[in-house]
Amino acid sequence: MLEVVAVAGIDEIQPGDDIAAAILDGTWEWADGTCTLADGDIVVITSKIVSKAEGQILDSADRDAVIDAESVRTVATKVTPRGTTRIVQTHHGLVLAAAGIDASNTRPGTVVLLPRDPDTAAATIGTALAERTGANVGVLITDTFGRPWRMGLTDNAIGAWNVQVLDDFTGKTDAHGRTLEMTVIALADEIASAADLVKGKVDQTPVALVRGLAHLVGSPLTAASLIRSADEDLFSLGTAEARAIGAAHAAHARRTVRDFTTDPVPHHALQIAIEAGVCAPAPHHTQPWRFALLHDQPIRTELLDAMATAWAADLAADGLDEPAIARRLARGDILRGAPALIVAFVDTSQAHRYADHRMIAERDMFIASGGAALQNIMVSLAAQGLGSAWISSSLFCPETVRTVLNQPSTCQPLGIITVGWPAEPAKPRPVMDISQYLITTSTP
Ligand SMILES: Cc1cc2nc3c(=O)[nH]c(=O)nc-3n(C[C@H](O)[C@H](O)[C@H](O)COP(=O)(O)O)c2cc1C
Repeated sequence: MLEVVAVAGIDEIQPGDDIAAAILDGTWEWADGTCTLADGDIVVITSKIVSKAEGQILDSADRDAVIDAESVRTVATKVTPRGTTRIVQTHHGLVLAAAGIDASNTRPGTVVLLPRDPDTAAATIGTALAERTGANVGVLITDTFGRPWRMGLTDNAIGAWNVQVLDDFTGKTDAHGRTLEMTVIALADEIASAADLVKGKVDQTPVALVRGLAHLVGSPLTAASLIRSADEDLFSLGTAEARAIGAAHAAHARRTVRDFTTDPVPHHALQIAIEAGVCAPAPHHTQPWRFALLHDQPIRTELLDAMATAWAADLAADGLDEPAIARRLARGDILRGAPALIVAFVDTSQAHRYADHRMIAERDMFIASGGAALQNIMVSLAAQGLGSAWISSSLFCPETVRTVLNQPSTCQPLGIITVGWPAEPAKPRPVMDISQYLITTSTP
């Protein structure tokens, strides 16, 4: 049987108070009518009274500065008419609103911080309770958290001593014989929530006792082991914050990647990239971009063979001998080895016609628009974790490429984007000194 009982008679805790003594001075009643602590009992304590005993109480006027001091990073910010809510990660590693700083159940004009080190506090209280009662008890210190995706708050364990906080089912089999892959139960949080059902937030009942889980008492793990590191967390930032970082770093994340794994590139990843490509600006309200997506179709080999023949002819005309030509052609292997190719064109048929220099400007506008589209495509590929390289060779044999892919003479090849999963992570881009790119202009 599982019993959860509240401890009555705990007076307002003051800095320096002995929490273990306050609990033992309180009263409770198990189902058998006794008021004892026995081996296997778990003592669940609201963090607020631990904080108060530690003197973690500050003037509420300093609230924002206190949140800053308690935080190591901001996870999410929400602005509402009532003020700004900040979800932060505290120096303990906990992710919660306002660093867990709380103005409820404390003297007006003051706020209570979380305990300095909840695991150590749990150990101190647990050791004192064990010494004074002779019982092998466990201790949890809890705080109330909001939860992503779920309405309502629940209590969670932020400090633990002598309690099994996690139950790892990974590798065990379910009732149907299937192996469980990622099932780890947060036992300490479940116990914390059960205890909160009898503690209550408004009637100052900060301690509950749980009996019937003796098999979970006697574990060296602490509540710190419940913290998922930001690196392993799929949701380590709020949606708005993640979007802002993604937007700010999108262009930086693209690097030319020339070595790919042999894994295939999903067609829908190319489609997403092309959708980004056709968001590019273009002259005269046109949409002049055209793309051939090539994976391993026969036409891909046909195209690359035809381009190699055209290149060899150019090199022979330059006077290179056969071995030199073969060496140069080997540089085109990147196009043969890449898992996918985006053969890009810009259609200049809607360029305005002029009999003078403006004709070149018209063509340049369309080429520039093609470059913008290809940049969008490569940034989108990088955002999807794919690598890409812009290979120029199709620019040098436009007629060949048009013929193989059956495109009109107005279609100008822009190069071929190779796409694949990077063989190794791309090197981070060095910090750019933009001054070298800025043209100095004299002030009027
Ligand atoms: C129009 C154009 C043509 C390019 N042609 C080639 C090419 O034929 N082969 C190649 O390996 N890289 C090619 N690149 C990629 C550049 O070498 C690459 O962008 C440059 O080294 C900078 O590296 P980053 O893209 O990682 O910033 C080309 C880039 C552009 C814009």
